[in-house]
Amino acid sequence: MTSSMSTVLLIGATSGLGEGFARRFHTLGKHLIVAGRRQDRLSALQQSLGSRVDARQLDITDFAALPGKVDELLKTFDIDTVFINAGIMKSPSFADASTQSNEDIIDEINTNLTAPIVLARLVVPYLIERAKAGKHANIVFTSSGLAYLPMGPYPVYCSAKAGIHAFCVALRQQLKPTGAQVNVIEIAPPYVDTTLDADFRDRLNAIMGGKAPKPMLFNEYMDATMRQLESGEASKLKEVATGSSQVRVNEWRGSLGKLLESMGIDA
Ligand SMILES: NC(=O)c1ccc[n+]([C@@H]2O[C@H](COP(=O)([O-])OP(=O)(O)OC[C@H]3O[C@@H](n4cnc5c(N)ncnc54)[C@H](OP(=O)(O)O)[C@@H]3O)[C@@H](O)[C@H]2O)c1
Repeated sequence: MTSSMSTVLLIGATSGLGEGFARRFHTLGKHLIVAGRRQDRLSALQQSLGSRVDARQLDITDFAALPGKVDELLKTFDIDTVFINAGIMKSPSFADASTQSNEDIIDEINTNLTAPIVLARLVVPYLIERAKAGKHANIVFTSSGLAYLPMGPYPVYCSAKAGIHAFCVALRQQLKPTGAQVNVIEIAPPYVDTTLDADFRDRLNAIMGGKAPKPMLFNEYMDATMRQLESGEASKLKEVATGSSQVRVNEWRGSLGKLLESMGIDA
């Protein structure tokens, strides 16, 4: 699949999985446009990778600025792959309203669900045009294993990520009749060792008596995921999952995915 990617806009590339993907894609010779809010980390990444890297400071929840910023990117670069990886995770308790504000909920939904969908609105017509001109066109979303199997400590996050999975399935259906080969890929990571849950990992582990699930090692995740991305044919890849996420995706594909197929829907 990565052979269909030459110029990748990677949103949420300043740390964790996004930075990992940026480094791996760069090693494969891709041109990267890395984006995120933290300018210092964008600059450090750009400096460390050297050539073939551009960077843009971007807050995907700044909905007023987003159309202009996306337009500039699409006009400046020959982007064939838009990879929307940015995400945040909180662990509020709905039994105790003081653990979150309304703004926390809105921020978590906006970052993890609304913004990716708004970005899709802004880039999909461009990707359709590319595909119709015989060029590669991919849109990649990062969901989560928690999209398929929600867990109590992350009620808002799980809801948003389930929305991303649903959106990917629906978007494939919308694109089909256009005849344009725009590949919609959902990356569904399991629990991986990044700073995503840094604010509450120790607290949750303590609540669980030290028995919280252990995250997958970062490089183990990147190796397994890149293997799938490199070997899979772009038009056939749908969900890219590994470890506990793979089990969940297989369950979905084997049951509800089959139900869609029985309705004549290839999504
Ligand atoms: N680690 C896991 O266990 C796991 C499991 C399943 C799914 N995921 C998903 O994987 C993705 C990456 O997470 P991670 O684990 O690598 O965590 P991370 O290290 O915290 O990375 C999150 C990335 O999202 C960016 N981001 C957050 N809010 C943003 C905003 N408003 N605008 C632009 N960029 C924003 C951050 O950049 P700035 O802060 O610089 O803006 C950062 O680059 C997320 O979508 C996450 O939900 C992670």
